[in-house]
Amino acid sequence: MNILLLGSGGRENALGWKIVQSPKVEKLYIAPGNAGTAHIGTNVNLSPTDFPALREFALHHAIDMVVVGPEDPLVKGLYDYFKNDPTLSHIPVIGPSASGARLEGSKNFAKAFMQRHHIPTARYQSFTIDTLNQAYDFLESLKAPYVLKADGLAAGKGVLILPTLAEAKKELKEMLSGMFGESSHTVVIEEFLSGIECSVFVLTDGKSYKILPVAKDYKRIGEGDIGLNTGGMGAVSPVPFADETFMKKVEQRIIVPTIEGLKTEGIDYKGFIFLGLINVKGEPMVIEYNVRMGDPETEVVMLRIKSDLVELLEGVAQGNLEERPLEIDSRTAVTVMLVSGGYPGSYEKGKIISGLEKVSDSILFHAGTTEKEGHIVTNGGRVIAISSYGNHKAEALARSFSNASKIEFEKKYFRSDIGFDL
Ligand code: AMP
Ligand code: GLY
Repeated sequence: MNILLLGSGGRENALGWKIVQSPKVEKLYIAPGNAGTAHIGTNVNLSPTDFPALREFALHHAIDMVVVGPEDPLVKGLYDYFKNDPTLSHIPVIGPSASGARLEGSKNFAKAFMQRHHIPTARYQSFTIDTLNQAYDFLESLKAPYVLKADGLAAGKGVLILPTLAEAKKELKEMLSGMFGESSHTVVIEEFLSGIECSVFVLTDGKSYKILPVAKDYKRIGEGDIGLNTGGMGAVSPVPFADETFMKKVEQRIIVPTIEGLKTEGIDYKGFIFLGLINVKGEPMVIEYNVRMGDPETEVVMLRIKSDLVELLEGVAQGNLEERPLEIDSRTAVTVMLVSGGYPGSYEKGKIISGLEKVSDSILFHAGTTEKEGHIVTNGGRVIAISSYGNHKAEALARSFSNASKIEFEKKYFRSDIGFDL
């Protein structure tokens, strides 16, 4: 099989690493990829949202499957674009239709979907600038802190959590007046939930499903989970509190009704579902849906899948996922992200990365790197994810931290407390 993988981050490097382990794969192309994916396949300089260019590429390179890393192409309808074009319709796209991608593309749609299917989530209401006064009334009926969410995609920045009513009202008005452009013309206001979060990944062919290893990511820049939000500083899998009892509840109350809901609403969904969950005193509630794998969770989840991922993806495409076994590695996997100093604020790119050859006992997934004049250089805020196995968390972390100190680039930073709360 020839596979085209879309995206350019650590997630795609990890997906690609797993894909090329399959004996079924002849060629892997990554669009656009990074310096890490260049070592496992062929990078092609195409944007994941340039559908006509992807079409041409897929036809000229006899692509048999498209695996989509990020949400953007899915929300923009890549699945439908392939399905509805007679010359492309034989090439399965792993990911939902645009209709299914609304689970991530519209918070308002996702909340209403959960309400329709009785899926546990925070109480909410949605507002536009025309209903500003009702929005203020709803805020007044809630307790601090206040959660405001831009309806549409806002590059991970669309959720605000405000400590006081006055701030919540001020920010709400700004959001509705276009603070995040089009995406915040509708704002979801919801009840604040407290608990510890985890990420549950489900692979579905639209009928049956497989639950992939559960992971927890660390979003804040600072140790102890303080400071600004990032794209993710590290992850751990498994998650001890996501035990059998908790996962039974997740399956019965969230996964089954989600798959059934998609089915009854006639929504075409063949791909990954990412449930952002919060454990509220032992009860799982949905914080958000994403329609793709998580980053950096993929950098641990792929390590824990023993089965051939391509075999599973074929099951998704052919609608016989149920017949395909999923075997999980019982070891712990962790990942520690090396980032550029200054990130998630402003930072410099183009710093030479050295010491990569000294790494042992870890797997490196490049996130933001590129090749320049024979060197691998930094090309983003998040630079390299260092993933390791261990018989327990401490052993896996020791391996990643040891390798984190061997890799050098100017102003390198990483969190040395990944997994501290588990
Ligand atoms: P989202 O983009 O929906 O994942 O939100 C970003 C982050 O905001 C989540 O990972 C949570 O940490 C936090 N968050 C979102 N909604 C809530 C909520 N209702 N209660 C508490 N925290 C929340
Ligand atoms: N790790 C969270 C995300 O990928 O959205």
